[in-house]
Amino acid sequence: MSETKLRVCFVCLGNICRSPTAEGVMKQLVQEAGLSHRFSIESAGTAAAHAGEAADPRSRAAAQRRGVLLTSRARRFLASDLDDFDYVVAMDRSNFSNILRLSSQKHHHEKVALLRSFDPRSVDAPGSLDSAGPLELDVPDPYYEDNFDAVFDICLAGCRGLLAHITKQHGLWP
Ligand code: 4NP
Repeated sequence: MSETKLRVCFVCLGNICRSPTAEGVMKQLVQEAGLSHRFSIESAGTAAAHAGEAADPRSRAAAQRRGVLLTSRARRFLASDLDDFDYVVAMDRSNFSNILRLSSQKHHHEKVALLRSFDPRSVDAPGSLDSAGPLELDVPDPYYEDNFDAVFDICLAGCRGLLAHITKQHGLWP
């Protein structure tokens, strides 16, 4: 079958911690659902400081503890990615607004969403996931913290919701 692939790009700041984690988790979920042939999944960062680097060893270790391999190489998110991807999934509100700034076109903006907006626990149970306050929609930046396992769990919950959203939207059946 030669069906068009659904293209998903996860975006954070450095593309070495959060978005590579979400990319690895999403690839795993899609594989478990038997839908790998329908998806193309990547990640990128709004900053180029870490371009070319593998995922942070702390992110890779946290993912490996959960059976997920992170294979990304960091790259900067480009305006052209708003044409190339169907879903552009930002890790936090800062990434979100930096992405929107790359284009003024409505059809581009409509592709951009926050990962945690797909996690019903984040939206329906304010403050239940962490202490950052009500309606927590940001995946916390783990770079200067030691919360890589928590970030993995947040990415997992968000990716589960995202996959449910996409499969419903496109009538995909595993
Ligand atoms: P990420 O984390 O955006 O989840 O990849 C960060 C990585 C590097 C830096 C900040 C956040 N940094 O400042 O170098």
